[in-house]
Amino acid sequence: MNFELTEEQIAVRDAAREFAQTKLLPGVIERDENQTFPAEQIKELGELGFLAMMVDPKYGGSGMDTVSYVLAIEELSKVDASCSVVMSVNNSLVCWGLETFGTEEQKEKYLKPLATGEIIGAFCLSEPEAGSDATSQQTTAIDKGDYYLLNGTKNWITNGNSASVYLVIAQTDVEKAHRGINAFIVEKGMHGFVVGQKENKLGIRGSDTHSLMFTDVKVPKENRIGEDGFGFTFAMKTLSGGRIGIAAQALGIASGAYELALQYSKERKAFGKEISKHQAIAFKLADMATEIEAARLLCLKSAWLKDNGKNYDKIGAMAKVFASETAMKTTVEAVQVHGGYGFVKEYHVERLMRDAKITQIYEGTSEIQRIVISRSILK
Ligand code: CAA
Repeated sequence: MNFELTEEQIAVRDAAREFAQTKLLPGVIERDENQTFPAEQIKELGELGFLAMMVDPKYGGSGMDTVSYVLAIEELSKVDASCSVVMSVNNSLVCWGLETFGTEEQKEKYLKPLATGEIIGAFCLSEPEAGSDATSQQTTAIDKGDYYLLNGTKNWITNGNSASVYLVIAQTDVEKAHRGINAFIVEKGMHGFVVGQKENKLGIRGSDTHSLMFTDVKVPKENRIGEDGFGFTFAMKTLSGGRIGIAAQALGIASGAYELALQYSKERKAFGKEISKHQAIAFKLADMATEIEAARLLCLKSAWLKDNGKNYDKIGAMAKVFASETAMKTTVEAVQVHGGYGFVKEYHVERLMRDAKITQIYEGTSEIQRIVISRSILK
């Protein structure tokens, strides 16, 4: 077993680290405070090839592996998880879904501009009454011959306003339950498509999360992804890979908080010595480092499985549940290590603590991951 990264993977990780320090760190507190979307930074990430890391270069992507993707997401998330979620959704849910299941025409028209960062995309599954229970889609798409008539509302959509292309899951035949669900490519500007309110969130406040309303939107038939009835499988397969990206995001939030706590504990003195020399703090650091290492191994293993064409559903779910719980635990402890300073914005750890929470919720809650894992081990 080889745990060494390749030279290319190290270069990607270092480039992402450099980008995070020079382009994300300045202004991250203000973007969080004012809920400002990191538009400039996303544009630059697109130019550098980070928005379609695993897409074939013939469609404008970077042609890298999932391991490199995990390394890059970890580095960016150490500093700005609002930015890394945009990258994660674009890479894992939108580009991967289109490249794997789209037609050549769909790839030419939509994947290419998404891969080069000209535009970004959104993945629209959740509804007011269908988050975890993804089969209960109320959004409908009625077959009208050469188009589908789309009606319904989607909730909590990442990149909700900043996206130009939306992959929308909808029920086309209620009788067939989850086998009567389809996925569609919807463009911003299609008549009857309205972007609703922006959510005022606890964390990842720089990302734009919106509800979306569809009223008699005519979606051309050629915008359906896959065979009729493929939509639920499309969503499940896409989310399965997406979970690796969110696990890596959680890992980054945890390691960012840990690095700040480690540095602070070596500078801050109390009772005559650096607080890192007190066992109460040293043990916290030891636990953080151990759990982060375990989370990293799960993230990298799930990425390796994906890169090698093996099934990654279970290990990806394990990576997400473990890394997100590590993120929550580590960030709370990092605030504790900082004492009163941890509670104020300029020390960053309170933001990381707020950002950590969403990793236990989106792209499948921790409870959903446990369903995926337990079904896999019990089948
Ligand atoms: N790959 C392929 N097919 C899969 C699959 C997978 N990983 N998982 C399930 N399926 C298939 C099953 O084989 C089954 O197909 P058949 O009946 O044809 O054999 C079908 O899907 C239904 O499966 P289940 O009976 O297991 O379905 P279920 O209703 O019990 O639900 C679930 C399974 C795992 C709980 C699923 O509903 C789920 O993952 N829910 C969470 C959804 C989610 O992650 N929502 C987050 C929103 S997206 C988001 O957050 C994006 C963002 O903006 C950041």
